[in-house]
Amino acid sequence: MKLAVVGGGSTYTPELIDGFARLRDTLPVEELVLVDPAADRLELVGGLARRIFARQGHPGRIVTTSDVDAGVAGADAVLLQLRVGGQAARNRDETWPLECGCVGQETTGAGGLAKALRTVPVVLDIAERVRRTNPDAWIIDFTNPVGIVTRALLQAGHKAVGLCNVAIGFQRKFAALLDVTPGEVHLDHVGLNHLTWELGVRLGGPEGEDVLPRLIAEHGDAIADDLHMPRAIVDRLGVVPSYYLRYFYAHDQVVREMGTKPSRAAEVAAMEKELLAMYGDPELAEKPALLAKRGGAFYSEAAVDLAAGLLGGSGSSHQVVNTYNNGTLPFLPDDAVIEVQAKVDASGATPLAVPALDPMYAGLIANVTAYEHLALQAALHGGRDRVFKALLAHPLIGQFEYAEALTDKLIAHNREHLPWA
Ligand code: G6P
Ligand code: MN
Repeated sequence: MKLAVVGGGSTYTPELIDGFARLRDTLPVEELVLVDPAADRLELVGGLARRIFARQGHPGRIVTTSDVDAGVAGADAVLLQLRVGGQAARNRDETWPLECGCVGQETTGAGGLAKALRTVPVVLDIAERVRRTNPDAWIIDFTNPVGIVTRALLQAGHKAVGLCNVAIGFQRKFAALLDVTPGEVHLDHVGLNHLTWELGVRLGGPEGEDVLPRLIAEHGDAIADDLHMPRAIVDRLGVVPSYYLRYFYAHDQVVREMGTKPSRAAEVAAMEKELLAMYGDPELAEKPALLAKRGGAFYSEAAVDLAAGLLGGSGSSHQVVNTYNNGTLPFLPDDAVIEVQAKVDASGATPLAVPALDPMYAGLIANVTAYEHLALQAALHGGRDRVFKALLAHPLIGQFEYAEALTDKLIAHNREHLPWA
């Protein structure tokens, strides 16, 4: 089995390599190609990746290249984890929206739209190259904003599934609180990428007993602390929102906080410098503890499981992924991309049925789906008017005056990545 990772020079890659090494029985990787335009990072990350494989006795070969076509040739699955414009572009996404009193975040609100506009054309170009050499290969997309990027890929007819680590993070957290193994915890996880709620926590599988009420009653403080939200919101909803809902439920508070501290991009850039220096140490042969301060916990497990499921290996049969709605949430178009539990096998991901949703969740999901549709139109076809409409439709923006100002800022800060601007 051959896998390619586009964006393989990411400082996150050792997390992935560690997962491939530990879970080699689930996913027997013979060749792993790390593809990245940044040759210097690739050399550092590739070197550590080889040492991790060697230390753990993994027989797989690790190859590095900056040539996408050569790198993806013959791959059974291609993981996309790229960041167009790097942390510098992210830093801008996280700061200029604050000038309008709107949240500055890399995947939510105006910053998320900027990221979508920069990213969709690049991802579609890579996917086209994958299809040209390997029409049967699966594309696993971690690249944010995952919902919009996955929708772009699926609409272009690619064999793609979108993946995020929010669900697996909750699964691990709840398993620890319940003192059971993660495999025993089935989440009733519903929504859009970075806009999800855990509506139930079942033991043993989709039909298992729902222990969420007990979990909240016994561990509500720990759960709310992790989300940086008051326990009262979890108690009153009776469900667990993802921490990305904080940008909605506590929007103004988050904006105030963001005005008083460095951006996450600035923190991450500092960490990346330190990480790359560590990766250059020939004695290091494991993922360093510092990597745990990044947001990517457990993404390797999720990736291994998904790849194993899609490639006919032994991954778990149910996984939370991003895929076409196809009637699962009847109030959304079939071609909206949702993030839910799905059956995963060699034919792809098929969402499990979801009971009728409370308007509390359905309303926001419908609103953000409309925004995502408009965002994708803007990313595919460009133009100031399309950007403006997507911003006006976003529930965190919604006002003419802000949408106008943010449109100008978005274009001014991203001109080099937007051929139409
Ligand atoms: C979580 C999200 C990812 C996001 C990451 C950011 O893992 O699910 O989609 O990319 O956090 O982490 P960072 O360390 O870059 O802030
Ligand atoms: Mn994510």
